[in-house]
Amino acid sequence: MAVTELFDRPTASPGLCDETELQLAPDGRLRHLLTLRGLDRERLSGLLDRSETFLSNAGERVVRSRALAGRTVANLFFEPSTRTRASFDLAAKRLGADVLNLDVNTSSRKKGESILDMIYTLQAMQIDVFVVRDASAGVPAYIVRHVNDYVSILNAGESDVSHPTQGLLDLLTIRQLKPDFENLRIAIVGDIAHSRVARSAVQGLTTMGVTDIRLICPPALAPEQEEMHGVRILHRLEDGMCGADVVMALRIQRERIGNLDGIPGIDEYFANYGISHERMKLAAPDAIVMHPGPMNRGIEIESSLADSRHSVITRQVTNGVAVRMAILSTVIESLETT
Ligand code: CP
Repeated sequence: MAVTELFDRPTASPGLCDETELQLAPDGRLRHLLTLRGLDRERLSGLLDRSETFLSNAGERVVRSRALAGRTVANLFFEPSTRTRASFDLAAKRLGADVLNLDVNTSSRKKGESILDMIYTLQAMQIDVFVVRDASAGVPAYIVRHVNDYVSILNAGESDVSHPTQGLLDLLTIRQLKPDFENLRIAIVGDIAHSRVARSAVQGLTTMGVTDIRLICPPALAPEQEEMHGVRILHRLEDGMCGADVVMALRIQRERIGNLDGIPGIDEYFANYGISHERMKLAAPDAIVMHPGPMNRGIEIESSLADSRHSVITRQVTNGVAVRMAILSTVIESLETT
């Protein structure tokens, strides 16, 4: 039985108001990070500004602080991760926290312990921040509703719903290279229907003032139009790539697709939706190429393009640590002042 099958899952995903309000303290400070929805431009810009303070040049010493000294951060990843988990781990350590990376496959969840009993157990060990990735919608908010007031929950990837720290690191990367959000043309290409990365990106970009967002995908991987306000859903890559300043490639989330009928095979997918040097000729000459990872070279992106002058994929990874330092220090500050 998979670990996730042992969850006492929430029965329904929380609504907009629930999630957006739940993550704020009564004084409006960010106590948890569940979603980018409802966070205004000033707050997002503030988080990006703070992230910048945690960056240093490659080869230099990393930025460290004692902002989380005496605090403990637990990484609870019930889905695989390389980037998010490693960067939360490094971010917490660089801020002086103790870090617990729980191996969920050898935890007592395997013996039938519920997620809440697991959280209560760890909470009793004075964990201050839980970083949670889960395949089910609503899990981070569900935990928020049950933990003590002095604990913070950070969403590290929630089903196909939300990946707010990924959204922030994408915004930071775009702002560093293309700061004129109002005039940007952004193409997000791939499995939009199952992508928490796309949802958080659209939420963040729209808040920052981007008005030209094109979501390009095969019909079988398209989201509902009513779910995505203010964006265009297109099925021909050529239509969406035209003049784009930012091109974000996404992988097909096969782990979230029960029935693969209608999903193109690898060769057909690359032929129609793969981002290649040839396709980049349609975009703006100085367009950047992004990918949240993990990347499937030769499927959603031509391998040499991922390593080309257009690519900002490793910059995204570097920014990921800074963004997570910004979030951790923000919620701890909020804990200490409420
Ligand atoms: N982008 C992202 O969430 O990558 P990981 O699954 O490796 O954490």
